[in-house]
Amino acid sequence: TITPVLLCGGSGTRLWPLSRKSYPKQFVPLMGKETLFQASAKRLSGLFIEEQDEACFAAPMVLTNSDFRFIVTEQLQAVGIDPGAILIEPEGRNTAPAVLAAALRAAAQDPDAILLVAPSDHVVPDVAAFHAAIERGLEAVRAGQLVTFGIQPSHAETAYGYLELAETPDASGNPVALKRFVEKPDATRAAEMLAAGNFKWNAGIFLFAAKDILAAFQTHAPTLIAPVQAALDAAEVDLGFLRLAPSPWGEAEDISIDYAVMEKAENLSVVPFDAAWSDLGGWDAVWREAGPDADGVVTTGEATAIDCKDTLLRSDSERLEVVGIGLENIMAVAMNDAVLVADMSRAQDVKKAVTALKAKG
Ligand code: GDD
Ligand code: MG
Repeated sequence: TITPVLLCGGSGTRLWPLSRKSYPKQFVPLMGKETLFQASAKRLSGLFIEEQDEACFAAPMVLTNSDFRFIVTEQLQAVGIDPGAILIEPEGRNTAPAVLAAALRAAAQDPDAILLVAPSDHVVPDVAAFHAAIERGLEAVRAGQLVTFGIQPSHAETAYGYLELAETPDASGNPVALKRFVEKPDATRAAEMLAAGNFKWNAGIFLFAAKDILAAFQTHAPTLIAPVQAALDAAEVDLGFLRLAPSPWGEAEDISIDYAVMEKAENLSVVPFDAAWSDLGGWDAVWREAGPDADGVVTTGEATAIDCKDTLLRSDSERLEVVGIGLENIMAVAMNDAVLVADMSRAQDVKKAVTALKAKG
């Protein structure tokens, strides 16, 4: 079986005002009725290949923080999923310590355990294609590889990792060896890699055996191991949550798995993933995923567009009606207590709103 490891500790500031520190984007119904977290958990549950025992999912391990623990259990219960362990991080130390904690815990029971590390805030509409990609990665995992999933790049994005492929993938979509992993390049480098053609975006989803990722941590980020192991050893069970011990945990470096391990590892394979995928990294991505009409307009909730073009109008409030007239390239998102109005091209700057509001106190 494959044990899904769901990461849901991030705060998603670029989707303010819907995404809040106390209720980040993975837990709000952003697209449709379910939350991204619920959709992610469902995508990682159930059997998907009957003939092959290996290719079914065990109960997911969830890594989150104290503030979100009841949101996690409620939202899983609402979609009928029983979690495995829920690990509570005393503070967010980014994805490397989180993944390491999951791997150490899994390996203590079975070093050969196969883990699928997945963010909880992505949109992957074609679940069957996703499962097929995971299945294609399994053989590489059995050969000791760390498997990542590669998305066909469409523009020179700087918010993603880039995967340089050692060879051109064939039509089967089987894994190919990775030459280089470049996490979040600057704009010039991103444009160069897009032009070069043999690059994919890193989907941020990883498949590996617990023992192999532990070996990679041992080689590339050895200083993380002692504090994370100590935090696990001294963890407290509290209402079914496993609370990692704060003082050793706080000593673990705050670093992502991409920088700590993936950029340096030599045993990486990439499974091309050609179906739709989005990490909803801004309101422009939400607009795109929602399927704009012929004028490029998306309205969500109590919102009305009159003579608008390439515009997102959204009300997440029962009290506020949003009306746009003659707008072009605008995004407007209304909540009961906050309204965002911005140029669509400035979607990435929404995080500045959060910083500015924090400074105001
Ligand atoms: N439990 C836990 N603890 N989860 C965390 C933490 C943490 O401290 N920090 C982040 N996460 C979760 C986020 O909620 C998200 O689901 C996932 O881990 C990835 O973190 P992000 O912060 O969203 O990473 P990113 O988007 O900047 O970059 C990663 O994803 C890109 C694709 O979306 C990288 O893997 C890139 O290479 C990749 O292209
Ligand atoms: Mg992300």
